[in-house]
Amino acid sequence: MKVTTTLVKGRVHYVGVNDTTKHLFENLWVLPYGVSYNSYLIADDKVALVDTVDARMFSEYLTKIRQVIGERPIDYLIINHMEPDHSGAIKLIRQYYPQITIVGNKQTFGMIEGFYGIYDNRLVVKDGETLDLGHHKLTFHLTPMVHWPETMMTYDATEQILFSGDAFGCFGALAGAYMDTNMDTTPYWDEMIRYYACIVGKYGEPVQRALKKLSGLSLQVIASTHGPVWTEEITRVVGVYDRLSRYEPDRDGVLIIYGSMYGNTERMAEVIAAQLSADGIKDICVHPVSTSDISDILKDVFRYKYILLGSPTYNGEIFPAVESVMHKIAARQVKNRTFGFFGSYSWAGAAVKKMKAFAEANNWQLIGDPVEMKHAMTPEIEEQCKRLADATAQR
Ligand code: FEO
Repeated sequence: MKVTTTLVKGRVHYVGVNDTTKHLFENLWVLPYGVSYNSYLIADDKVALVDTVDARMFSEYLTKIRQVIGERPIDYLIINHMEPDHSGAIKLIRQYYPQITIVGNKQTFGMIEGFYGIYDNRLVVKDGETLDLGHHKLTFHLTPMVHWPETMMTYDATEQILFSGDAFGCFGALAGAYMDTNMDTTPYWDEMIRYYACIVGKYGEPVQRALKKLSGLSLQVIASTHGPVWTEEITRVVGVYDRLSRYEPDRDGVLIIYGSMYGNTERMAEVIAAQLSADGIKDICVHPVSTSDISDILKDVFRYKYILLGSPTYNGEIFPAVESVMHKIAARQVKNRTFGFFGSYSWAGAAVKKMKAFAEANNWQLIGDPVEMKHAMTPEIEEQCKRLADATAQR
C-alpha cells in the first residue's frame, strides 16, 4: 500500500488545508472548485512554519502540524504575506507555541500590530538576509505589491525551494495529492488565470520586477500559498505569470462582452458574432454581463487580444453592469488590447460615448466604426454591425 506522505523535499512538509465551504474568495470571487491555503513546516534542527491558514481551519491545521513534529516546539513562523487567508491563524499559533518567533519585514510587522495586536517575539528581516535552520538555509526576498506591500518570498538554497506566497498560486482545492507530479493538473491552469486576473491583475509591473529579481535562482520546487506545489511544471507556471503580468494575450480570437436590458443590444452582439463566424473566426467568446460571472469575464479579458463591448444607455449613463466591468478592467490597467464597441438607446445615447472615452483612457487601439442603435434592429444597423465584425476579422 502506498502511504500518503506530507514530505515535499528535504525536511519540508506540506501542512496546508482545503476550503470547500467558502463560496466567495475575498467575499468577491466565486470558488466553484474551492481553494487551498498552503502552509509548509520545515522540521529541521530549528523548526519553521511558513505562512499559516484561514483561522476557520485551525483545528485541522494544528492536527497536521502535530502529525509531523509531535510535541516539538516551533522556533520560527515566517510570514510571507499578511492577507488573512494566510495570516488568520497567527494568534492561535502563538497560543499553542508561545515561544515562537515571527519572521517578517518591517511592513509585515506594521500589519501584525494592526490586525492582531502582536508586538513581541519578532525577527525583522531585510531584503537578502538569511536564516539558517540546520539543513535548510533560507534567504528572504522582498517582493512588494505582489500583491500587498509587505509581500516577500523565502528561498531555500539547500533544496532550491521557493516559498512564493500568492505568486504562482491558483484557485481550486487540492484533490488528495498536493504535488503536481502526483496529479492531473489540467483543472488548475484556467483557475490560475482566473486567480491572477481577479487577485493580482492590477500589479503587472510589480510581478515583472519580482520575476526579474528572482530570475537568477535555481528552482526545483515552487511552494505557493494556493494550489499545487509545482516541480515538473515550474517552467510553465512561471511562463503563465510572466505572460499575464505583461498583459500579453494567449488567444487570437474575439471576446464579445455586452449588457442588454430587453434584448436589443444582445441582438447587435448576435449579429456581430454570426458575422465573425461567417468570416472564418472560430474562437469567439461571448459574455453577457448580467449572467456571466465577473471573474470569468476578467479571466477572458486577460486572454483575448480583440475585445468588442456593447451596452445600452441606462438613465443617461452606460448600463451599470457594463460600467462595473469597465471599471474593473481599468483598475487592472489592462494594456495592448484592440477594441470595438456598440450600443443602443431609447431617447438619448450615452453608452457609446462612454465606451469611446474608456478606450481612449486605456490607450486601446480601435477597430472599425462604433455602432449606435436607436430602439431596435434595422437593416442599416445590421449592416453596420456586420462591418464592425468584418473589420475585426480582417485584423
Ligand atoms: Fe492568498 Fe493575497 O492572499
